[in-house]
Amino acid sequence: MSDPQLPNSLTNPQLGRLQVDHLQILQQRYEQAMAAHGYDALLISSGAAPLRYGDDQAWHFQGYGPFLHWTGLVGREHCWLLVRPGQRPVLWLYQPVDFWHATLTLADEPWHGSVDMRTVDQQLPADLPGSGRQAVIGDPAVIAAVAGDHNPQALLPALEETRVHKTPYEIACLTQASRVALQGHNAARDVFLAGGSEFDISLAYQQATGQREADAPYHSIIGLNAHAGTLHYQYYDTVAPARHRSLLIDAGVRYRGYGSDITRTTAGPGEGRFAALIHGLDHLQQRLCGMVAPGVSYPDLHHRAHLGLAALLGAAGLVRGLDEDAMVAQGITRAFFPHGVGHFLGVQVHDVAGKPAPPPADAPFLRLTRTLEPGMVVTIEPGLYFIPSLLEPLLTGPLAKHLNAGLIRELQGCGGIRIEDNVVVTAAGGRNLTREAGG
Ligand code: GLY
Ligand code: MN
Ligand code: MN
Repeated sequence: MSDPQLPNSLTNPQLGRLQVDHLQILQQRYEQAMAAHGYDALLISSGAAPLRYGDDQAWHFQGYGPFLHWTGLVGREHCWLLVRPGQRPVLWLYQPVDFWHATLTLADEPWHGSVDMRTVDQQLPADLPGSGRQAVIGDPAVIAAVAGDHNPQALLPALEETRVHKTPYEIACLTQASRVALQGHNAARDVFLAGGSEFDISLAYQQATGQREADAPYHSIIGLNAHAGTLHYQYYDTVAPARHRSLLIDAGVRYRGYGSDITRTTAGPGEGRFAALIHGLDHLQQRLCGMVAPGVSYPDLHHRAHLGLAALLGAAGLVRGLDEDAMVAQGITRAFFPHGVGHFLGVQVHDVAGKPAPPPADAPFLRLTRTLEPGMVVTIEPGLYFIPSLLEPLLTGPLAKHLNAGLIRELQGCGGIRIEDNVVVTAAGGRNLTREAGG
């Protein structure tokens, strides 16, 4: 029986070499973090999927971030990685003989030479070398039986910090993740324009990306018409609507653990006003992407997104009689754009360490409050939505005179717009991985 092929194989030999360098960089970063917190050894669990309560079926498993950061091995339960200063990491790869399930073997790759790989049929690491003070990180239910300090609260932020500046290997993986996702976005748009349902679009996305829904970095958001106005719309209507006014698809792909996070919005035939709004938001989004550079405060970028949105709301005739600063200060732009302008991206879609400081009071959902530095990878994802529960209070309150209620109600049937790309901060500015890949 041949092993199942997953779409994660190395796209070129250079990537294999970059991964070897990546492991060397992680070794240095981890050694520093461990030394700073007095640890001689660190054991990382890949995790394991719990059973659903009262059931013998497990949740779909993807893997714990630090384990993916080191190995890229998504979907591998009961594996462990031991990191110690000055030594090759030890990887216990769980490969039981199991007639119920297939066991994935690994194709030979250059990085295997950088670790001491032990294929085992036990769920706990065997022959753990006694190595002084040991930390163990991972899902508490999985690491419970292993000796050491579990998820030490002082060490964890230092480990998260090792994920902030992406290595060239990580950027190459994220580039490939954008590239493959765009094939899915193109297929999704075609099925929308051909009159498909949300479910049809999700199938087309999976087919074009070679990735099943459960393996995606997050649940793909596919909303037609008013559904596009629910930020994290989570269903797939199997019935196509009578009229296709809009499609919002927010969907990514994982490549060797790294996820893209891309959103595109398409207007249906005859939706000229909505198409013009998409065009305006796309222009704003590209301007914001162009502002990505070292030294830029991400909360400032979020504020600029609001100012740009205010200009668009005014130009489109949705809001009248207020200047841009006033629209922002009075919370009008927030009713149309309630989420943050983006976040860190990596082995988790909302990657860690984005909020050493809390977000500004007027941006409670902003997931990134840092100043940008080379090597960071962020999303840039402004939106413009017609969300009844946020707009109704404005339409019936003291600011109502500034709002074009007729136009808002007309466009509510199109739901909303989000446009999202993945951008690397470079020494010279930013590299838009998504547009570079043709998106
Ligand atoms: N796909 C979730 C987000 O854009 O943050
Ligand atoms: Mn995002
Ligand atoms: Mn997204």
